[in-house]
Amino acid sequence: MQIAPSILTADFCELGKLMDELVSEGIDWIHLDVMDGNWVVNKTITFGPALVNSIRQKLGPEIFVDCHLMINNAEETWEQYVDAGVDLVIFHIEAVSDARNLIDNLQSKGCQAGIVLNPDTPASEVLPFLSKLDLILVMSVVPGKGGQSFMPEMKSKILEFRSAIDNQINSGGKSTKLMIDGGIKHHNVALVKGWGIDVAVIGSGIINDNGTVEDNLKEITSAM
Ligand code: DX5
Ligand code: ZN
Repeated sequence: MQIAPSILTADFCELGKLMDELVSEGIDWIHLDVMDGNWVVNKTITFGPALVNSIRQKLGPEIFVDCHLMINNAEETWEQYVDAGVDLVIFHIEAVSDARNLIDNLQSKGCQAGIVLNPDTPASEVLPFLSKLDLILVMSVVPGKGGQSFMPEMKSKILEFRSAIDNQINSGGKSTKLMIDGGIKHHNVALVKGWGIDVAVIGSGIINDNGTVEDNLKEITSAM
């Protein structure tokens, strides 16, 4: 299972240093949480394409960068994130009207396409698009901020996606990745690995005031 740090709890004045540190610790995937002050329930604003592009430039082409769009107008603005250099755009199924068209648009620009769903959205909303998707992201918190509690009841949805993806791969289809986001810490990282997750997003479990990035990552990898 890969670990993709989310930078939401970082000191934004120190992002360059943080990127260097994460890369030197062997991280090869960064997860960027874009919120527009409208879509998430707590109306948070995080950052947009300019910061995404700076991080992309800082990391260089070797590191995989995704952006998790928690915005109202992904169907109008997706290209800004592609132009900012992300490898994968993940959009909320609840926030778009024509998911198939957005997947096609992203992939035709050479960008991978992922769909994310909120804790109360059933897998059936996303399964019709599975054969085209590069990634499915299951939220294990209500999106809006870092540091919330993990929702273990997401297990059945994750197992449903895992078996659908395995069936697809076994019949020669796309190797869609399965990602989880929210509340993952050293004490539950082995649990979600056991559910068959390919990539776990971890924010406050890596970037917090209690320990260094190095120590937190060591604790997480040894728990896995
Ligand atoms: C929640 C974001 C997550 C979150 C992860 O809206 O999508 O990526 O910041 O942070 P932790 O690991 O602290 O839950
Ligand atoms: Zn996220």
